[in-house]
Amino acid sequence: MEIKVSPSILSADFSMLGDEIKKMEAAGADLIHIDVMDGHFVPNISLGMPVIKKARKVTKLPFDVHLMIENPEKYIDAFVAAGSDIITVHQEACVHLHRVVQMIKKAGVKAGVALNPMTNVETLKYILPDIDMVLIMSVNPGFGAQSYIPVITRKIAEMRALCIREGYPDMDIEVDGGVDAKTYVDVVGAGANVLVAGNALFTAEDPKALITLMKSKQ
Ligand code: DX5
Ligand code: ZN
Repeated sequence: MEIKVSPSILSADFSMLGDEIKKMEAAGADLIHIDVMDGHFVPNISLGMPVIKKARKVTKLPFDVHLMIENPEKYIDAFVAAGSDIITVHQEACVHLHRVVQMIKKAGVKAGVALNPMTNVETLKYILPDIDMVLIMSVNPGFGAQSYIPVITRKIAEMRALCIREGYPDMDIEVDGGVDAKTYVDVVGAGANVLVAGNALFTAEDPKALITLMKSKQ
């Protein structure tokens, strides 16, 4: 499968966010990953709609918005209006996951569902027909620059196998957390095709070389 790279702006310098996004676009990014944290679902607070709305003006790349928030159903329309192209909600944050996914689709954008590291892939079995992307967290969500949890490689392979078994072999499987010049090899090898990278890309001397490397393992 074609590999897509989605730089996480959580590690960007927010005082010059527009330039940081343009830098990633020039480096070959396919998407821009935007981490929204509410201080409840995760211990940290990051950014919200006003930032997304302004950032929307500097690039045409799709915005891959990762909602690490409780009650995401309350904010779907606002995140669509701000300029999201893919909205990913956490399975663990949705009591009525099917309903939330339908809301996202109805709002006219792609829908993703994320799993915390210790949530079983089987919990997504019945929602696969309704979604465009699965997001496998490879760190405990809340912070950038954490270390990749090794057991997640096995989980990615199980997720790809489940997608194939259920009739969705081309499902986008995104992996988020600790993806860098070393760990991406296992991540892609296990069957993921969308790589989120924050710390690795924003601290890279040559982000273009790193994105090219990450995309070289088809
Ligand atoms: C963590 C976020 C990630 C994070 C990834 O809660 O969802 O997107 O920014 O950052 P790195 O690549 O630095 O682990
Ligand atoms: Zn994320």
